[in-house]
Amino acid sequence: MKVEWVSGNRLFEKIDAEQEVEMLKAALSVRPDNHDVLKQLVSRLSYQNKHDEANEIAKQFIQNNPEDRYALLVYANLLRKQKNWPKAFALFHKMLDMNYRTEELLAPLAFCYQKTGNHPKSKEYLEKALAIPDPDYQTVRFALETMLGLGWYKELMAYYEEQKANELIGSLSQSFYFRAMARVLSKEILENEIDYKDYIKVVDFNDVYGSEEMAVLNQALLGFAKNHPRLQYDPSYISTTNGYQAHIGDASDPMVEQLLNKFRQQVDLFLDGPYGYQVLMKKKKARLKPWIVILNNGGYQKPHVHPAGVVSGVYYLQIPPHIAESEIPSEGWIEFGISPEEEGNDPKYAVRPEEGKLLLFPSYLAHRTIPLITDCTRICFAFDVVPE
Ligand SMILES: [Fe+2]
Repeated sequence: MKVEWVSGNRLFEKIDAEQEVEMLKAALSVRPDNHDVLKQLVSRLSYQNKHDEANEIAKQFIQNNPEDRYALLVYANLLRKQKNWPKAFALFHKMLDMNYRTEELLAPLAFCYQKTGNHPKSKEYLEKALAIPDPDYQTVRFALETMLGLGWYKELMAYYEEQKANELIGSLSQSFYFRAMARVLSKEILENEIDYKDYIKVVDFNDVYGSEEMAVLNQALLGFAKNHPRLQYDPSYISTTNGYQAHIGDASDPMVEQLLNKFRQQVDLFLDGPYGYQVLMKKKKARLKPWIVILNNGGYQKPHVHPAGVVSGVYYLQIPPHIAESEIPSEGWIEFGISPEEEGNDPKYAVRPEEGKLLLFPSYLAHRTIPLITDCTRICFAFDVVPE
């Protein structure tokens, strides 16, 4: 199947992250009771790992507006992202004691009970939350997150089928649908003996596009990657550890656009070829969402799947020679077939990264990077093909 590529990126416009935070702070000082600004500001700060500052701003907001339930929800959500379950839990109970719009608390409580290991209570609250006739966005979000945590994948996928036409929660439930699907498939793959060579395609851009053209392009891309204003050290909620990551929009640089077009071309070939049947591409339209990863000594990617995508790719831009020439799986190699949920299972297949190599694979295939243990820099472009 040929993809109809949609370009542009709603989420990552060309604005400097620091500048964005400053603008939001200025807006909050003018309107100290504005929920939307508060929500945006704490979410930007927590993306930048500035948890203490985000917490302070949320706390301050609540002190100024003690009856503001929405602000309490924002703060509780922040604590949830920081995996501070006891505090989040206490906050939801405090809101429950306020005895006002308690139906909004059913799903968050279900979520906290799930996270703190009380699954019977979690199930009880979740069922109540799902019975709410016209649930608000937060309720749906927490309910879906809880379903994922409880392993209710089939129920979650059925929920998406019911809600996909709903303007408010359709796309939210779609992203959870993909997360559930990724886990189901990843589990099935791990439980069955599969030949990973049938799933992972390796394309050498030096062979396909010529090493001279690629040398010029790669040089320009290195400058782009190393100086990207969105680079964040060890951002929360993602698998990059001890490394830098930046989400980049497409069309952000003519050289990057050249590379992304090569990715699109290769994804089309991947889907058309023998690998295509491994991918559950239900829609024709898709968008390429790229990001940069820079790892130094101590850096790695934890085992993970890419729940938002159907096809994922990684293109190696800078690989230290001792890694590119290593003979056995060792630092900097990518390994497939490790469950993100269960510790201790063995990798099934490893690929040595080399400059100019592109790996394409179904997004549900779990993978990780072996930690770097020497002083060196490993840079890659990763991307997801996300159905529209
Ligand atoms: Fe990945």
